[in-house]
Amino acid sequence: MGSILVTGGAGYIGSHTVRVLLAQGAQVVVLDSLVTGHKEAVPAEVPFYLGDICDAGLVKTIVESQEVEAVIHFAARSLVGESMAKPDLYFYENTAKTNLFVSNLLQLGVNKIVFSSTAAVYGLPETVPISEESPTSPINPYGLSKLMIEASFHWLEKAYGLKWVALRYFNAAGASLDGSIGEEHLPETHLIPLVLKAALGQRDAIQVFGTDYNTLDGTCIRDYIHVLDLAEAHVLALKALDQQSNSGVYNVGTGQGYSVLQVITSAKKVTGIDIPVVEVARRSGDPDVLIAKVAKIEKTFGLKTRYSDLETIIASAWRWHQNNPDGYKSKS
Ligand SMILES: NC(=O)c1ccc[n+]([C@@H]2O[C@H](COP(=O)([O-])OP(=O)(O)OC[C@H]3O[C@@H](n4cnc5c(N)ncnc54)[C@H](O)[C@@H]3O)[C@@H](O)[C@H]2O)c1
Repeated sequence: MGSILVTGGAGYIGSHTVRVLLAQGAQVVVLDSLVTGHKEAVPAEVPFYLGDICDAGLVKTIVESQEVEAVIHFAARSLVGESMAKPDLYFYENTAKTNLFVSNLLQLGVNKIVFSSTAAVYGLPETVPISEESPTSPINPYGLSKLMIEASFHWLEKAYGLKWVALRYFNAAGASLDGSIGEEHLPETHLIPLVLKAALGQRDAIQVFGTDYNTLDGTCIRDYIHVLDLAEAHVLALKALDQQSNSGVYNVGTGQGYSVLQVITSAKKVTGIDIPVVEVARRSGDPDVLIAKVAKIEKTFGLKTRYSDLETIIASAWRWHQNNPDGYKSKS
């Protein structure tokens, strides 16, 4: 059996997936430029290549020397606000580089890929829960940069027999259960780490953007999936790729949503800290509710989430933040 190349394996979701792959006996190799990742998040026994996915020579060396048979491709930029300010950066980093990378892989005989897509491809959904058949209409360059890759895969499949799965993640959250690796984005834009940083006193308060949404408590509802369940989805997708008929797009979430206030209430309970909350105006482009329809991934890959209840998500993230209040030592 050959090895699995994980691009972006030093990042948040990639580093958890590397551990899940290792635990299941896979041979793993990581390619990461460390533009946003952390070398410490990669276990010492995993071959690590520092470099860019668009470096064709390096990709060839890795594929040949490590006998790569499939790829899980996390490497990307993923800040929505940054993508609005610099759309060209996102079309280059996420779309152009991935296109080149996959083209090189195909030339080297690697034709299996699991790709990190996003719920941002749906834009402002007309109905929830959102199924894979819902219209795609991204409202930011980040979502479009990923959607263009999904669309390209259809054609690469027809022309070259690419076997692919694009996982449209909803909200990844939580940390490894021992708190040894976790979420550190710079800047951090995700709700749960921000709430926990407020609990640690590293932020004055957690801001709640809008309390007049059409939801039970007026705050936005999102579908949170524990990063370990999300990692498991990649492993299952990889196994399923042996059958070409499984190629396609799949939502990854739980099918259940929590409001911003529910997350904060749960974080107060888990931490035992009365986290200060400040209500501020809505941000533009935030839909009331984003919840995934998950029947397709459950039925096709047999995904069963094990850690995605809100308390386990927050307790694991809290362990990570308490053990590592300043995050990883290496800052990218
Ligand atoms: N975090 C979420 O909730 C979420 C939701 C939807 C989709 N995603 C997608 O999941 C993937 C992983 O997200 P994350 O939260 O782990 O982000 P992250 O920033 O922690 O990880 C991305 C990793 O890719 C590396 N990288 C970026 N560009 C590279 C390049 N050109 N060559 C080599 N390495 C490169 C970075 O150094 C980093 O280690 C991304 O593709 C992101 O768009 C994340």
